[in-house]
Amino acid sequence: MLNEKMEAAINGQINAEIYSSYLYMSMATWFDAQSLPGMAHWMRVQAQEEWTHAIKFYNFVNERGGRVILSAIEGPETEWDNPLAVFQAVAEHEAKVTGLINGLMDLALELKDHASSSFLQWFVDEQVEEESSAADVVGQMKLAQDNPSALLMLDKELAARVFNMPVWLTI
Ligand code: FEO
Repeated sequence: MLNEKMEAAINGQINAEIYSSYLYMSMATWFDAQSLPGMAHWMRVQAQEEWTHAIKFYNFVNERGGRVILSAIEGPETEWDNPLAVFQAVAEHEAKVTGLINGLMDLALELKDHASSSFLQWFVDEQVEEESSAADVVGQMKLAQDNPSALLMLDKELAARVFNMPVWLTI
């Protein structure tokens, strides 16, 4: 049975994951409006991944006999100064999410909730990848931002990102 505190904290994280998905969709619309379809695609893939994170938490709450409570999702930002600023915002957002995941892990350890801490380890590892992939694009964008042909090449490269439906995803 899921501890009430942990249940409430995970419900908060479900909201944060859906917000992340919403934020990345907002970034996708910005890139579409800038005629950078590859970057828009990258953001939509990112948004899909965030949705799967929300579902992973949702399934865990159900499996542990808890109740998922959905709450209002904050409106995302809609404007950025340039493509680099968008990816810097991704990197900052992912660092924030890492902090949230670490907070959940701290709570699981405090409650001696071994099932939750084992479950959360997946997210701890995932955040290493999330922060690293955002940092990679920020680095590439810094090189390309003042050169339109390099920016278009990067756009083409980011268009190749593929969303892989996770094997664990059941909805
Ligand atoms: Fe669900 Fe990008 O962390």
